[in-house]
Amino acid sequence: MLAFSSYSFSQNLLTNPGFESGTSGWTLGGDASAQFTESSGRSGNRLTHWSSSSSYTAETKQTVTGLAAGTYRLSVYTVGGETAGAWLWAYCDGQSFSTPIPSSPWGSWAQVVVDNISVSGGSCELGITTENSEWSSFDDVVFEWVSGGGPGELVIEEATGFCSVDGSVDSNHPGYNGRGFANTDNAAGNGVEWRVQVPAGGSYELEWRYANASDNNRPGNLLINGLSVATVDFPSTGAWETWAVATATIFLDAGENTIRLEAISGEGLGNIDSLSVTGDSPQAIDCGNNSGDCGEGNPDSQFSCSGDPAVCLLGGGVGNYRVTMEFDAGYNGELEVFAESRRRMFTSPQQSTSASRCADFLVDVRDPEGQPWQDQSDRGTSGLNLRIAQGAPALSRLTFSPISSPTTLFIAGDSTVADQRPQLYAQPDARYSGWGQFIPAYFGSAIEVSNYSDSGEGTQAFRTDGGGLWNQINSRLKSGDWVMIQLGHNDKTTSASLYRSRITNMVTAIRNKGANPILITPMIRNTGDPLSGQHVWGDLNIRNELIGVANAQNVPLIDLMELTSEWAGSIGRSAAQTYFVGSDRTHSNEMGAELFSQMIVDEIRRQNIGIIGYLRNP
Ligand code: GCU
Ligand code: CA
Repeated sequence: MLAFSSYSFSQNLLTNPGFESGTSGWTLGGDASAQFTESSGRSGNRLTHWSSSSSYTAETKQTVTGLAAGTYRLSVYTVGGETAGAWLWAYCDGQSFSTPIPSSPWGSWAQVVVDNISVSGGSCELGITTENSEWSSFDDVVFEWVSGGGPGELVIEEATGFCSVDGSVDSNHPGYNGRGFANTDNAAGNGVEWRVQVPAGGSYELEWRYANASDNNRPGNLLINGLSVATVDFPSTGAWETWAVATATIFLDAGENTIRLEAISGEGLGNIDSLSVTGDSPQAIDCGNNSGDCGEGNPDSQFSCSGDPAVCLLGGGVGNYRVTMEFDAGYNGELEVFAESRRRMFTSPQQSTSASRCADFLVDVRDPEGQPWQDQSDRGTSGLNLRIAQGAPALSRLTFSPISSPTTLFIAGDSTVADQRPQLYAQPDARYSGWGQFIPAYFGSAIEVSNYSDSGEGTQAFRTDGGGLWNQINSRLKSGDWVMIQLGHNDKTTSASLYRSRITNMVTAIRNKGANPILITPMIRNTGDPLSGQHVWGDLNIRNELIGVANAQNVPLIDLMELTSEWAGSIGRSAAQTYFVGSDRTHSNEMGAELFSQMIVDEIRRQNIGIIGYLRNP
């Protein structure tokens, strides 16, 4: 969007305009070499043209380059006098502009202004000349841009000119403009990047609209074309819905410029709604696919993947990783990437494209890489490992780097949710698969999915008073994280009141950490029992209890039991069985896990649950 507005710059384009560094930055000329600086009574030092005899000329000047075409204004404060002749002047593109400097009694500083200086060639010489003077002092020279050939304010939303965010574009806090706002993952070094083109080098004002509910300032390092030029403060605005602006005045080069704001603090940046660029005719330019660059990591980094489907063993230890992959422009088939214990991290449908395609995601590397308890004796492959099920021959680049503490979606569940073993020896319809293995691909690279579900486990293992799996989640859980809870298949001997109190305690503990719980009723067993007869153990009716806790505690609830009951009812029990392994009525195969994860994601969208902002397609 291009919008025009009137504005003026207070930015001073001169070097050392207040003579604070003495006369450095200025050229001293003329035949009176009597210039010196001393305390001024304005700010810091002043410049004095001093000549002991009435016939000497003194001149102080400097050349300013990189100016945008337009109209400028030059001013200076002066005191003293007994000047026979003195001028403030500018010489630009063969034309001179000047005004006489009057004498002014000591102690009474007067401002002298040269207006309407027109510049087209990008540079001017500016100066102060005095003749026949006894003494004359000067301070605070200002050379400012008043208006240009094509002054404009360019507002860049999440569209042309918006290149990348090390995080996600979210829309879960109201008050933003455009498609959403850029949310960097909360770690130092994460940033947002834009690209603009300007007709001539010159001064531009940048203004970011942002929100920051953290108590702390989240300063950003501002890089123009890769060079750090300023630190921009993004102080707290009190709430994520409260938007404010932060500004910086900088120089842009003629032609294309990259503007990057990079978090200095471990909290990342605030949420950035837009960048506006004000100055001579700024234009947003496309940055998506001209370079074929997926925007992350070192393009020269080595990767070794072999085969098709390809296996990539990338090494490294337990921890969190960001992976970015680039696939050739010429390839327009499906992409499907798994990590670790058959977690589906990325999938994209058949599409025709002339641009290279990028896949990025966060991976939680653990040991064992699958179920925390069940896989103790078969821990999987150590380090980060990927399997490119579709698209491997088109892979042109792969980079990965360790990251610290990303926002995480933890999952507490049983075998129907767990990261089941790869079982690549079997056909997909015969592989036991938890929905927790298929849900990561729906989320973008601003959140990591960490699935602690384990076969045979229920609320006992996740109880907050000593449950071993809860302890594992709890040791990593932090503010802003999410926890999905689907427990019930293995609570056959738990009483209703114990089940209720354990789930309630989990909700409370999660919230006490500033994290967000989501309750999920277990999918049906394909027994033909009606919804009311599913997962009822003695006095414990799992679905009723979860609905009760959700209502009492105001927790989002995804009623997967009801959704799957309706689904099985509509397609029929035997058709539904093809989504389970063989004649097993409880455990889904890959098709089932994909379907159930899709149902959960659809509910996140339908109910607009806060985690929606982390979805790849919200
Ligand atoms: C919350 C908030 C995000 C924000 C993040 C942060 O998760 O919803 O919009 O970016 O905190 O602290 O940066
Ligand atoms: Ca953030």
